[in-house]
Amino acid sequence: MKPQRPFVLINMAMTADGKIAPPHRRFAPIGSRRDHDNLLRLRTTVDAVMCGARTVESGNITMDAGGARYERQRLAKRLNRQNLRVLVSGSGSVDPGAAIFKSRISPILIFVSSQAPAKRLAKLKAVADEVIVCGAKSVALGQALGRLRRDWNVKRLLCEGGGELNFELLRLGLVDELHLTICPRLIGGRDAPTIADGAGFQRLAKAAKLEPVAQRRTGDELFTTWRVRPESR
Ligand SMILES: NC(=O)c1ccc[n+]([C@@H]2O[C@H](COP(=O)([O-])OP(=O)(O)OC[C@H]3O[C@@H](n4cnc5c(N)ncnc54)[C@H](OP(=O)(O)O)[C@@H]3O)[C@@H](O)[C@H]2O)c1
Repeated sequence: MKPQRPFVLINMAMTADGKIAPPHRRFAPIGSRRDHDNLLRLRTTVDAVMCGARTVESGNITMDAGGARYERQRLAKRLNRQNLRVLVSGSGSVDPGAAIFKSRISPILIFVSSQAPAKRLAKLKAVADEVIVCGAKSVALGQALGRLRRDWNVKRLLCEGGGELNFELLRLGLVDELHLTICPRLIGGRDAPTIADGAGFQRLAKAAKLEPVAQRRTGDELFTTWRVRPESR
């Protein structure tokens, strides 16, 4: 039987205190060029890359393969030259003027919920390849992943944040692997986003359980890989 959803990886660069951006929440390169290369190499292993609405608006984010070198790596792995690009925006609030919509390099799908007003939907339909209504109050992420697997043949999906989308995926037990680059900085600030925000797990017993599977230090950064234990899925 065909698996019902893709294998899901999350990749994030965080400071030593777990922050993924300063309190102003605009994009800031927390990681080095090496970390960026690590991200693009991870993209060469997946069919689709996914982000939340606030992440894709936070800077010049295009979510593409990253250039000819990475495209060649994708083709060698028998993947499409470019990854599919997937956005999650329950209320359809994602800015249709965001940089990603100026790049037509690969299909852009946007998952919204039934809460998204018709006016917003019309604007998003004009800039995306497909706008998919999936879920009543918020995007039903399990169903959305099922649609990606079934309709777009997405076998591996890389989620690149932000904290709110990551938390929902973790809460619903939809994450298989976490790639965290720990960068040698400390930002602080209660309003600075972290790798998993949202409402948070209220009880430790409910927290996502992780198993470290790989770590390496390169320069001053720690590249770590964690498996999300099946009991928290
Ligand atoms: N350092 C890193 O590696 C890294 C990576 C990515 C992002 N970032 C930073 O993280 C920040 C953004 O993170 P964030 O947590 O604020 O936002 P986010 O997770 O990128 O986006 C949140 C939005 O996504 C939509 N969303 C998420 N889950 C949903 C669900 N289950 N159902 C419906 N909609 C859902 C909602 O859109 P609607 O409002 O339209 O409903 C929500 O407002 C930025 O500062 C960015 O630069 C850092």
